[in-house]
Amino acid sequence: MQLKNQSQTYGWISIVLHWMVAIVVLGTFALGFWMVDLDYYSTWYHDAPNIHKSIGVLLILGMLARFLWNQVNIKPQPLAKSALQNSIAVTVHLILYLLVFAIGVSGYLISTAESQPIAVFDWFEVPALFTPFEDQADIAGEIHEWLAYGLMGLVALHALAALKHHFFNKDKTLKRMLKPISNNQRK
Ligand code: HEM
Repeated sequence: MQLKNQSQTYGWISIVLHWMVAIVVLGTFALGFWMVDLDYYSTWYHDAPNIHKSIGVLLILGMLARFLWNQVNIKPQPLAKSALQNSIAVTVHLILYLLVFAIGVSGYLISTAESQPIAVFDWFEVPALFTPFEDQADIAGEIHEWLAYGLMGLVALHALAALKHHFFNKDKTLKRMLKPISNNQRK
């Protein structure tokens, strides 16, 4: 089984981490979008934010794992022929990472504004280390929300680009993120 990346293809660890993060990012956004309108008397009023926060912390750990895995791996060569397209793709990937981390930091600042730790399910707690500014929950909340919308916009662009490669350019950009491509399948 091919676990590590090669010059032409992603390995299973990058592929599994990519799709786990993608599913969790979309699920956490949907949960956050739904929970902000919950009524105080809803049974989900406390549970939904607790689940959202717990999954958010695990998502940041997943992104960190992915970032570290990328550092000890080679990056497959881009398949697009245009240098401009390749640099746009690299920039979009970088901003995707930065946005997920920035959303994590703003979420941490909302949750710890009252100096309360974040309970990640019943497994462990993330301590409230500092409360840097006044109206922290409100300010961090606004930033968290707008960064999340920005992330969704960029994810849509990123996914459309992958689908364009698949259906119009008919190259292996999407296929090699679904399953490692063996030597004899490469163009
Ligand atoms: C939902 C959140 C998503 C995030 C945060 C995300 C992030 C990333 C990042 C950072 C990379 C660079 C490679 C790496 O670091 O492992 C990447 C590659 C890739 N992603 Fe996503 N992605 C998401 C969703 C999607 C979706 C929905 C699709 C397809 C419909 C997709 C298709 C791809 C493909 C094909 C590549 C490889 C691009 C290449 O070889 O240059 N991603 N993604």
